[in-house]
Parts: sequence; structure tokens; C-alpha cells
Amino acid sequence: MNNIVVYASKHGTVEGIVRSLLRKSPEEILSINILKEEPPNLSDYKNIMIGGSIYLGKIQKPLTKFIKHHLDILLQKRVGLFLCAGETDRKKVIDEFNHAFPEALRKHAVAKEVFGYAYKLDEMNFLEKMLVKKMRGVTENTSALNEEGIERFFDTVFK
Ligand SMILES: Cc1cc2nc3c(=O)[nH]c(=O)nc-3n(C[C@H](O)[C@H](O)[C@H](O)COP(=O)(O)O)c2cc1C
Repeated sequence: MNNIVVYASKHGTVEGIVRSLLRKSPEEILSINILKEEPPNLSDYKNIMIGGSIYLGKIQKPLTKFIKHHLDILLQKRVGLFLCAGETDRKKVIDEFNHAFPEALRKHAVAKEVFGYAYKLDEMNFLEKMLVKKMRGVTENTSALNEEGIERFFDTVFK
């Protein structure tokens, strides 16, 4: 198999996007939830997609660790980087992206996208609900996924 997606998702937005990719893709793709599984040896893969979601300005720590530990091999592969992020200010979301992925990997990546966001209140604890209400004024389940960006990302990676 040529393709692997390594991802992190807390409330399921990233996971849902990855699942729909696996359903739609004519290519075989191994998906690894880095919060639950160890990734296999990356040298066996040609296309490597990496993505997570932003919480309080950062992606999930295990994803950061994974990138740091495998940076050398990632720089020899065809790589796509993506994020789910609720930030709508373009400059701020670019800052989040730049903070999430090291510069060398960003420069090397063939595809980079922010896939938008969903706020799933049923999945959140009390504190998280308070935070999203305060920070974003969100009081009900909301979703704003960037379908065009999602499609463009996977088209580019598999081109
Ligand atoms: C408690 C909380 C904090 C968040 N903080 C940020 C943030 O700092 N910046 C941002 O862009 N999005 C933020 N988000 C939005 C998430 O990135 C967004 O909901 C995303 O779709 C979550 O993806 P997941 O369900 O795959 O984890 C936050 C969401 C929650 C619930």
C-alpha cells in the first residue's frame, strides 16, 4: 500500500473527514489515529498525509511528537498537511498552521489546507462548552467544513 494518513481528532471532525476519504478513495489508504495507535514504518509509504485539530492554539501533542520523531523520513516523502480549526481570521489561522507544523515540512509539503471546523457540543465537557461559548459565541452544534479545500487537498496528494 502506498498511502497513509496519520491523524488526531478529539471530537470527531478530523476523524469524520478521514473516514469519508477512505470511503470515497479509489486508492487504498491506511489510516492511523495517533491518539490510539502506533504508526507503522513510514519507509513503506509514498504518500503521507498528516492532520489534526487545533485546541487553544495547538495541535494534539502526540501528533507534534510524531512529526518531530519522523521529520527526516517525512522530508523524503510526498506529504500533505491539514488542520481542522475554528479560527476564521485568515492571519490567525495561518499562524496556527505555521505553529503546528515545522517550517521545513511546510516548505516540503505538496498540499496544505485548513479543512474548516465543527463544534460538537454533545461531545464536549462542561469546561469546553463554556470556552467555545465565550471564545466563539457557540451555543449549538455548528459545522463549517471547507469541502472545496478537502477535495483539492486529496486531489493534489494523489495527483
Ligand atoms: C475547547 C475548544 C478549544 C478550541 N480552540 C481552538 C483554537 O484555539 N483555535 C482554533 O482555530 N480552533 C479551536 N477550536 C476548534 C476546533 O479546532 C474545531 O472544533 C475542530 O473541528 C475540532 O476537530 P476534532 O473534532 O477533530 O478534534 C477549539 C474547540 C474546542 C472545543
